[in-house]
Amino acid sequence: MSERTVAPAPPGNEPPIHIRALAYPDLPQVIAVERRVFPTPWSLAMFVLELSKQSGVCLAAFSGERLVGYEICSRYDTVWHIMNIAVDLDYQRRGLATALLAELYRRVEDPQARFTLEVRRSNAVAIHLYEREGFRAAGTRRRYYQDNGEDALVMWRTPGTLVGTLEDVPNARPPQ
Ligand SMILES: CC(C)(COP(=O)(O)OP(=O)(O)OC[C@H]1O[C@@H](n2cnc3c(N)ncnc32)[C@H](O)[C@@H]1OP(=O)(O)O)[C@@H](O)C(=O)NCCC(=O)NCCS
Repeated sequence: MSERTVAPAPPGNEPPIHIRALAYPDLPQVIAVERRVFPTPWSLAMFVLELSKQSGVCLAAFSGERLVGYEICSRYDTVWHIMNIAVDLDYQRRGLATALLAELYRRVEDPQARFTLEVRRSNAVAIHLYEREGFRAAGTRRRYYQDNGEDALVMWRTPGTLVGTLEDVPNARPPQ
């Protein structure tokens, strides 16, 4: 699929942001961002595994030649699992994650699609982003994160959550 400029225009003389499919040669840059933004970064092998899945949608956002964000989504049966999304520190809060998600929905090309993800309960920024995108918390995975034993919130974005119900979310148990 072709490259498209889909993010808001950056300030000053910075090159426009463009988003395209993530490719194996991008992975060294992905790893560098991953290590800057996550306390427990994915390994190279984890990215290689996700990229090897034919049915996934893996995207990268670039400012010129520099990779500044990425998104990894895998399809399991009828459900799309957002496995990873990150934006480099100096490019955060400029709409890049929003643009990566918009490009994901566009490529999935299915208004009935259901998306799910896990997020640390303490990650208020990401939870805020997902809620703004129409995701809703529908469960908890106790002590999901091995580094600190933190719980994960399980969030879904479905035709139902977009109109305010969890009816089409499997086993929905909204956290108290
Ligand atoms: C979460 C993350 C991907 C958001 O990327 P981003 O490009 O900065 O997000 P956007 O600019 O598209 O922001 C979209 C919304 O996210 C929320 N958000 C982003 N940064 C925020 C901040 N510092 N404080 C509060 N909310 C914030 C807001 O709702 C924002 O909308 P708004 O600017 O209209 O208020 C980025 O902060 C990141 O890479 N964090 C580290 C990795 C991570 O936690 N990934 C998610 C794992 S589940």
